[in-house]
Amino acid sequence: MSKSLEANVDESKVLGWIKKIGTEPSASVPLLQEIQSEYGYLPREAMEIVIKNSAITSSQLYGVATFYSQFRLKPIGRHLIKVCHGTACHVRGADRLDTSVEHALGLKKGQDTALDGSYTVEQVACVGCCSLAPVMVVDDKVLGDLTGATAKRALKAHAKENDEKLQN
Ligand code: FES
Repeated sequence: MSKSLEANVDESKVLGWIKKIGTEPSASVPLLQEIQSEYGYLPREAMEIVIKNSAITSSQLYGVATFYSQFRLKPIGRHLIKVCHGTACHVRGADRLDTSVEHALGLKKGQDTALDGSYTVEQVACVGCCSLAPVMVVDDKVLGDLTGATAKRALKAHAKENDEKLQN
């Protein structure tokens, strides 16, 4: 992961959220939601500010952050690709889309973000367009009836429109 993807955390903002939301462990989820909605993930620096300035311990805060799949501990790319792995998409070839996307982005095993920070890919539950399965959502655009090849073509078109470069 390139360092440049790390967010610059504004301490006063985080302190403001703590003041508004609360300092007890029950405030963990809304605090993490605020942080993630600001930075796209949960920067370690922001987590430390919460831990230092509240009654929430490190293990409580990280426990919540890792329990809920909505939270990310790593920076996110400039564009987000969601590959649907709901039942309909799974049955109709979501795995092929994963392979195709991973190849297009040049991702190695365990990596979810392209090294240049352009794209992050994640697997999600049903996105509600099962009749179009298999589906992926690139930023907010739903693409359906995909094959490995059309998924890659769609990504290439998206990259071109957004001045991004794919690895393959
Ligand atoms: S299972 Fe993929 S859209 Fe419903």
